[in-house]
Amino acid sequence: MELDAAYWENRYKNDQTGWDIGYPSDPIISYVSQLEDRSIDILIPGAGNAWEASWLYENGYKNITVIDIAATPLENFKERMPDFPEHQLLHADLFEHGKRYDLILEQTFFCALLPERRREYAAKMQQLLKPEGKLAGLLFDFPNTGSGPPFGGSKAEYEQLFKPFFKIQKLEPCYNSIKPRRGKELFFIFEKKQP
Ligand SMILES: C[S@@+](CC[C@H](N)C(=O)[O-])C[C@H]1O[C@@H](n2cnc3c(N)ncnc32)[C@H](O)[C@@H]1O
Repeated sequence: MELDAAYWENRYKNDQTGWDIGYPSDPIISYVSQLEDRSIDILIPGAGNAWEASWLYENGYKNITVIDIAATPLENFKERMPDFPEHQLLHADLFEHGKRYDLILEQTFFCALLPERRREYAAKMQQLLKPEGKLAGLLFDFPNTGSGPPFGGSKAEYEQLFKPFFKIQKLEPCYNSIKPRRGKELFFIFEKKQP
């Protein structure tokens, strides 16, 4: 199976978007709300309808970049958020992106990639961060049976995968997951290690 742009575009066109919670994710919002500096550069990769980007923008975080390989969710976002700067909305493959950020927010993008791309994901995220930049968000905590997306994983697997690239500041069961994901998510904060 190829999880390429056409695959994701079809999922949006056919309304097969079970991952889309339809509002900003509580754990992500409670994390970003604690950040003191609202001027930081934030990237939301594989953002889909990007509910968190809307919340951030409306709450004073202006330097947000949204990337998705599918056009439909970006069009939805534009309609919902006509004032959001168009140049911060990228219809692109994350793995071909090159800017640097202070913070990258992860939610159901990692689990949407084929598991064999996980090392590439970790290395790319490290590359996209400024020194001391952070990758933070949610990772699923259920066995990876090889069927997906979403593909699962465990704390031990994630530690092993990310440790070469990041200092693991936090990786623990998420206490404020949305109801359908309760007990199935880890909240994490990883700080970039210098390559
Ligand atoms: C499971 S959805 C999650 C969307 C969003 N994060 C959410 O929680 O609603 C995965 C998203 O990643 C996007 N995607 C997949 N591969 C990508 C890539 N290489 N570059 C950018 N976006 C990608 C898909 O188009 C899709 O919108």
